[in-house]
Amino acid sequence: MAFKSVLSLLLIASAAFARPTPGDNHADHNHSGRSLFEAFGIKEWAHPVDHPVTALFRRQNANNLTIGSAEWKAQYPQGNPDPTKMPQAWKDALAKAVAAGQIPQVPLTNAGNYPKGTDASDPKVCNSAAECKVDGDIWAAPDGMLGLNFDDGPTDASPRLYDFLKNNTQKATLFYIGGNIRDLPQHALTAFQGGNDLAVHTYTHRWSTSLSNEEFMAELGWTCQIISDLTDGRVPRYWRPPYGDSDLRTRAIAKIFGMTQVDWNQDTDDWEIPEGKNTEGAVAKNFQKWLTGPKSPGLIILEHELAASTVDAFIAAYPLMKSNGWDTRNIPDLFGASYYLNAKDNTSPVVATLDPASGGATTIDLSANAATSASAAAATSSTGAQGSSDNKNGARSLSASGALLAFAMGLAVLAL
Ligand SMILES: *[C@@H]1O[C@H](CO)[C@@H](O)[C@H](O)[C@H]1NC(C)=O
Ligand SMILES: *[C@@H]1O[C@H](CO)[C@@H](O)[C@H](O)[C@H]1NC(C)=O
Ligand SMILES: *[C@@H]1O[C@H](CO)[C@@H](O)[C@H](O)[C@H]1NC(C)=O
Ligand SMILES: [Zn+2]
Repeated sequence: MAFKSVLSLLLIASAAFARPTPGDNHADHNHSGRSLFEAFGIKEWAHPVDHPVTALFRRQNANNLTIGSAEWKAQYPQGNPDPTKMPQAWKDALAKAVAAGQIPQVPLTNAGNYPKGTDASDPKVCNSAAECKVDGDIWAAPDGMLGLNFDDGPTDASPRLYDFLKNNTQKATLFYIGGNIRDLPQHALTAFQGGNDLAVHTYTHRWSTSLSNEEFMAELGWTCQIISDLTDGRVPRYWRPPYGDSDLRTRAIAKIFGMTQVDWNQDTDDWEIPEGKNTEGAVAKNFQKWLTGPKSPGLIILEHELAASTVDAFIAAYPLMKSNGWDTRNIPDLFGASYYLNAKDNTSPVVATLDPASGGATTIDLSANAATSASAAAATSSTGAQGSSDNKNGARSLSASGALLAFAMGLAVLAL
C-alpha cells in the first residue's frame, strides 16, 4: 500500500514536473500575466518573470483529480518528504545555491540544540528561537497595528475560526502545515475563499535546524506546492519556522523559494491549553495586558488554530482588540505587501508563473540574508517551547516589495 502510493506519487510527480506540455497545465487557468505585460509592464506586486521561483512550481493536478480524493492525496508526500524524490528543479536550485556559497554551513541541531561549541546567538548561526534577528525577518507590526496569524492548521477546529473571521470581515495569515493541508484540503479552500492568505509552516512541523539542506528544501517545497495547487498557482510569500527554530542556513534555503520569515513579538502559549498546561483564563489575562499596553511597536501575537480551545481564546480576545483601537490585519496588509509572490491577493490574477517559457532561471540573490545584519536581541519576558520574543527594533518594511516596484517601474519606462 505504502509502496504503491509512493510509486504513484513518483509517477505523478515526475509527469507533472518533468516537461510541462502545452495544454496540460493551462486547462483551468489563464496566463493573466501575459496580458498585463502586454498592456503596460507589470504591476508593483508582480513577481519578475525571470525570478527563480517561477521555475520551481509546475502546476500539478493536470488530470483534474477530485480534491481530497486518494489519487489527489497521492500527489503529495505522506509523512516526512523523501528529499531524494523531490522535483529535480528544487534539487537543482539547492545545488546551485550551495555551489554559489549562498547556504551558510551551520551545524545541524538535535531538536533545536546545537552541538557543543555552537552558540545559537552567534551572528553566524543566528537562531530566531534565541531571539536573533536578521534584516528582512518580520517580528512586529507597524505602530497601532495587530497582525493576526494562526499556526498549525488546517485542523478540525479551523472551520469555526474561518467562520468567525468571515463574520467579522477579518482576514488572518494562516501558517499551514503541508501535511495537514493534504489531510484537510477543504478547510484550506474555505480559508482561501474567505480571503485569508495561506503561508508555510513546513510540511511535517519538525525542527527546521535539525534537517539537512535537502530535507528542509523538501519540507518547504511540498508545502508551497500544495498551496499553489489549491490556489490556482499562488506561491506563498511568508513562512514561519515551527518552534521559532530557524538559523542562517534555514533562512537561506527559504530564500531559494523567495520566502520571508515571520516571527512574533508576543506569545499566547495557547497551544498549551489543549495539553492542560495552560488555561484560557491565563491566555485572556495576557491578551488583556498586551491589548491595553503600548501601541508601539505593533503586535504580532503567536496564536494557533490547533484546537477548539485555542480558537476560543482568540474569539474571546477579538472584541478587546477592537475596543482598544487596534488595527487588525493579516500579515501582508500590515505592510501593503502582496499576499503571494505572484499574486496581489486571493482574487487578483496570478502573474508570471507556471510559464514554461520563463523556466530555468535559478540565479538567487541572498544578499538580504547576509550574516552581518544579524543581531541578538535582549532577553524577554516569557518562555515556552515555542520560544518568544520582544521586538526591540520595530517592524522592518519589506524591502522586496520596493525592489519589485523599482523593477516594475523600470519595465514601464522601457515599455514607454
Ligand atoms: C480564460 O480567458 C478566456 C478569454 O478571456 C475566457 O473566455 C475563459 O473563460 C478564461 N478561462 C478561465 C478558466 O478563466
Ligand atoms: C481538466 O478540466 C478542464 C476544464 O474542465 C478540461 O478542459 C481539461 O480537458 C481537463 N483535463 C483533463 C486531463 O482531463
Ligand atoms: C457566524 O455568523 C452566523 C450567522 O449569524 C452564525 O450562525 C455563526 O454562529 C457565526 N459563527 C461564529 C463562529 O461566530
Ligand atoms: Zn507550529
